[in-house]
Amino acid sequence: MSIDIRVNEKEKEIFFSLRTLNSEYQMKADGFGVLRHIWYGEITERDMDYLLLRPDVGFSGSIYEAGNQRDYSLDTMPLEYPCGGVGDYRVPAVKVTHSNGSSALDLRYKSHNVIKGKYKIPSLPAVYAEESEAETLEITLGDTASDTEVVLRYGVLGDKDIITRSAEIRNGGEKEIFVGKAASLCLELPQGKWDWIHFHGRHAMERQTERAPLFHGIQESASLRGTSSHQQNPSFIICSPDCGERHGECYGAFFVYSGSFSTQIEYDQLEQTRAVMGINPDLFGWHLMGGESFYTPEAVMTYSGGGLGALSRNFHKIIRENICRGKYKLSERPVLINNWEATYFDFDGEKILRIAEEAAKMGVDMLVLDDGWFGKRNDDCSGLGDWFVNEKKLKGGLGKLAEKIKGLGLKFGIWFEPEMVSEDSELYRAHPDWAIAIPGRKPTRARYQLVLDMSRKDVRDYLYDSISKILRSADISYVKWDANRSICDLYSAELPPERQRELSHRYVLGLYELLERLTKEFPEVLFEGCSGGGGRFDAGMLYYCPQIWCSDDTDAYERTKIQYGTSFIYPVSAVGSHISVVPNHQTGRITPMESRAVTAMAGSFGYELDPNSLSDYEKGLVSQQIQSFKKYAPLIHNGKYYRLSDPLRDNYALWEFASEDRSEALIQGMIFRKVPNMKRISVRAEGLSPDGIYRIEGREGTFTGKALMCGGILIEDMWGDYKAVEIHIVREG
Ligand code: GLA
Repeated sequence: MSIDIRVNEKEKEIFFSLRTLNSEYQMKADGFGVLRHIWYGEITERDMDYLLLRPDVGFSGSIYEAGNQRDYSLDTMPLEYPCGGVGDYRVPAVKVTHSNGSSALDLRYKSHNVIKGKYKIPSLPAVYAEESEAETLEITLGDTASDTEVVLRYGVLGDKDIITRSAEIRNGGEKEIFVGKAASLCLELPQGKWDWIHFHGRHAMERQTERAPLFHGIQESASLRGTSSHQQNPSFIICSPDCGERHGECYGAFFVYSGSFSTQIEYDQLEQTRAVMGINPDLFGWHLMGGESFYTPEAVMTYSGGGLGALSRNFHKIIRENICRGKYKLSERPVLINNWEATYFDFDGEKILRIAEEAAKMGVDMLVLDDGWFGKRNDDCSGLGDWFVNEKKLKGGLGKLAEKIKGLGLKFGIWFEPEMVSEDSELYRAHPDWAIAIPGRKPTRARYQLVLDMSRKDVRDYLYDSISKILRSADISYVKWDANRSICDLYSAELPPERQRELSHRYVLGLYELLERLTKEFPEVLFEGCSGGGGRFDAGMLYYCPQIWCSDDTDAYERTKIQYGTSFIYPVSAVGSHISVVPNHQTGRITPMESRAVTAMAGSFGYELDPNSLSDYEKGLVSQQIQSFKKYAPLIHNGKYYRLSDPLRDNYALWEFASEDRSEALIQGMIFRKVPNMKRISVRAEGLSPDGIYRIEGREGTFTGKALMCGGILIEDMWGDYKAVEIHIVREG
């Protein structure tokens, strides 16, 4: 596992190989200095550059130096960081306009460098690693006709089968250049037919899984909403048509970024596939003065020759161990109760205390006070921005309330929506120019609110001061960081006209800076991300918040599909998931308490209800659920995660957590619809030791791991719809 570089003096070529445990990435700077992609896939023990032979294709021209070598065309060859304007007509990774108005780059190899450890990216979240765990390859390319340089950085985390990418665009000249596109990743796939898996959705229906064969031309998944969005997720998988959970080839990538993004996948004239992922160029542009650099956010890739399950587990591990940070990165999360669905805006201190009292009796660890505790906030039309306690609702303030809650044995958490402002607020009246709006145009309102200009230092300082004041005013252990609208009307009162296209990215940089300051200042506080549920569920946010409220949809049945899609990229520990009452507030559906529990357990577990409305029987169930969650929490969060069904196709959703040492596994899920004379459902376990002897809790006899993995486990017949499944498998010998 390493970075291997070989120079072929005769051909004037430099060959680069990046090896991980189960994959190899090959590229070469050829005799013309063009950095060509060769291979990403299985370790073949061979340079794969024989694959680079291309036919002479009409209308695909050659670089000047190639003379009459007509089959040498940028338009047909796989490239590491393609640029528009000089003969490659496919999706480019970078676009630059020079001071003379021309828009072309012709990047050629200049130098390379291998560094121990993992590179960092200024002002942006990225995979971090011990020096012994990672290596960095830097390849510097230079334009043939200007002083523009691009440094490509590859981070190799060999044991984790991960390769990361980021680029630095440098203006080495004196005159300003304009960067119109700066992608983080260009991934060229071996020629052939591929399926594309991506995750689309809408509010309360995030990350629905869609899989389709690539068609000729460009297909795109993207966000122009200023956030990564409910509608598309900044991640993708490309797999062989036969690829399933346990077999087949697949490539995946996710973006460590929380703003507008674009993933374009082009299936070209030669049936070659190129995927380009980065900041969405439609909302981007950056003026780079002489001597300045622009750094792209990071993209993280993995390859699996053993199906989608292994690909997801690679991602789960890297996100948990090398992206999430802080006290709660790997430790157990508190079981929380959130008052949102219990009270909405209609609460006072007494009501909150009554919820806390009952919750404490049932074994809950923390009460989270949601929206409505601050300013003038009795509905969603006012108050955002006024981050001081509403003493009419909470007599004696937050300190008193937190003390009483602590007295019950619970921790106390609180909701903020820092990036937003209501027009009916003291903040807006004092600083109307802090809201994003275009002069002369009425801004779009969404949930009746506007967005603060996070690119401004004065805005960030105000937020830092007011949030930290609140966090110091009471014993607060948790913050839910919400953002309840998409961003538009892009204009910053502080930026000159020619830099307005920078706002979208500057907003994200500002958000990250504020999060960095606050998470550093309050290392004991657990931050949970949120954006109307999972509208900003991405690895950028997970760098600051180890968990994110997965969806405003708490209906257990719908949640199995949302969490299924989420699981392709993100680990269970990142998924905020709560049990709420029935009929469900989003769908009116009635599901049994047990099914709501197993679904919420596949996440960072909690409740979203008023325990005073539960019967004694239900309260008993809640106590049992909490005990059982605590028993299983280490297995759930540290174990390997397996998808055992496709809930979009099957009549059930089943998943499994298996311990790394194969001593224990837990299968959970739900059978959706009961029919008469139902055929038996059997499910094949995963991650056991084939020769191990296992017992299934509550059942007679023992089984070999092989039997359970090949023959499967019969699911007991059940009466009624949406019935919960829970199978605990323990190794005995
Ligand atoms: C968003 C969140 C909810 C809740 C409300 C409060 O919709 O996703 O969980 O916090 O805001 O307004």
